Amino acid sequence: MSDAATPPDSATDLGVEDEDETLLRVEGVTKHFDNSRGILGGLTVDPNGDGPVVGFDKEMVRAVEDVSFEVRRGETLGLVGESGCGKSTLARTILRLLKPTAGRIEFKGEDLAEMSGERLRSRRSDMQMIFQDPQSSLDPRMEVGRIVEEPMQAHGMLDSEGREERARELLEKVGLDPQHYNRYPHEFSGGQRQRINLARALSVNPDFIVCDEPVSALDVSIQAQVLNTMRRLQDEFGLTYLFIAHDLSVIRHISDRVAVMYLGQLVELADKEELFENPQHPYTQALLDSIPVPDPRKTETRGALEGDVPSPIDPPSGCRFRTRCPKLIAPAEYDMSDEEWAGVRRFTRAVKRRSFEREETDLRQEFFAEGVPGGEAGDIVSAAIESVETGEWSAAADLLQSSFAEQSICAREEPDYEVDPEYGTNRHYAACHLHRES
Ligand SMILES: Nc1ncnc2c1ncn2[C@@H]1O[C@H](COP(=O)(O)OP(=O)(O)OP(=O)(O)O)[C@@H](O)[C@H]1O
Ligand code: SF4
Ligand SMILES: [Mg+2]
Repeated sequence: MSDAATPPDSATDLGVEDEDETLLRVEGVTKHFDNSRGILGGLTVDPNGDGPVVGFDKEMVRAVEDVSFEVRRGETLGLVGESGCGKSTLARTILRLLKPTAGRIEFKGEDLAEMSGERLRSRRSDMQMIFQDPQSSLDPRMEVGRIVEEPMQAHGMLDSEGREERARELLEKVGLDPQHYNRYPHEFSGGQRQRINLARALSVNPDFIVCDEPVSALDVSIQAQVLNTMRRLQDEFGLTYLFIAHDLSVIRHISDRVAVMYLGQLVELADKEELFENPQHPYTQALLDSIPVPDPRKTETRGALEGDVPSPIDPPSGCRFRTRCPKLIAPAEYDMSDEEWAGVRRFTRAVKRRSFEREETDLRQEFFAEGVPGGEAGDIVSAAIESVETGEWSAAADLLQSSFAEQSICAREEPDYEVDPEYGTNRHYAACHLHRES
């Protein structure tokens, strides 16, 4: 593992470019949840039909969609994204705590997606998970020693004496007093409880640990201590981590490479330094820009994200980020300057939100001071302005939306590109059509 002060080629030092060293390969992994309520919740009725029920209209939450990446042995892959973007669902699907809707999950060359029963159970000891809330993941009625021993027992490891010895050893390794073997979880602090979780995960000698927001519930000062212990253990036990966090500073501290998720999809993946210094997806750029800047002169939050995250039940077509993207690409069929396109987008947003007093605003002056676009685009803008002027806001909004935003390549094709990295040599994936020519 490396930190911010480590030279950029640290990932190469780990041999992460070696194909043979791939520990986990996730290919096209998709997880949908059926959200239809109750037995009759999803039934649809055809008003023109004879019978009352014509189909079962399922409401699917498309939590994870077509995600592919690799994790190399010994590295930490950070996974970051806003709340609800599917990080935990992806993690639980990879560990086969959830059954994937589609895709391959190749761990040490075997497809876990198709595995079940005893074979899957035996693979599980190689893959452990640590959760955010160290309190609720520890049974309050069990002594910590027994908690650490439980997975060993479940996997039939060692005899009871051997397990106790190993548990005491592990408690020490994670920075706890082995004398506290008989204490209960409530006698420990939050950071210590997360260390107990670490000892428990390590007890079955895993190769791979998925850490789902393991330090998010801890104070910042404690976070660093626990993260440092995790790095030490990684070196000592040769561990590979998939490390989930929404906090970019934590991700930066711990990761070798970083994957960014938005609304169920991977939008960018690169070496840590490449991602932080040379982000290529507008969503990553916005996330990085929203990190508080410790410069009192910089009061504005650059490129702060607009609007809400759309529902994963009905995500936008093409690029899922397009409804919030400040760089949405102009439809190819119109001939517009950058300024004209910027005006069209500002006008579209304002009409959608009805954010101006229509009787008091000179729309051409307000939104198209640089000039209304010419040609067909101009005709559409003029028609929309007329609609607004007569109070037909929805008609104007629909016309703008269907004529511009929906015609963009961003709405019509799913982006999927590799870009040349500026830092290091590892692949840099960016799901954004701005890279369609690179
Ligand atoms: N069992 C479930 N049934 C239906 N929908 C679910 C289920 N689990 C998760 N979801 C939905 O899937 C989406 C992804 O949720 P998930 O918990 O994976 O996000 P997350 O990135 O881990 O968020 P957070 O940062 O808040 O932990 C959300 O819209 C969530 O509501
Ligand atoms: S594909 Fe289009 S909408 Fe998506 S991030 Fe790139 S520019 Fe923005
Ligand atoms: Mg989560």
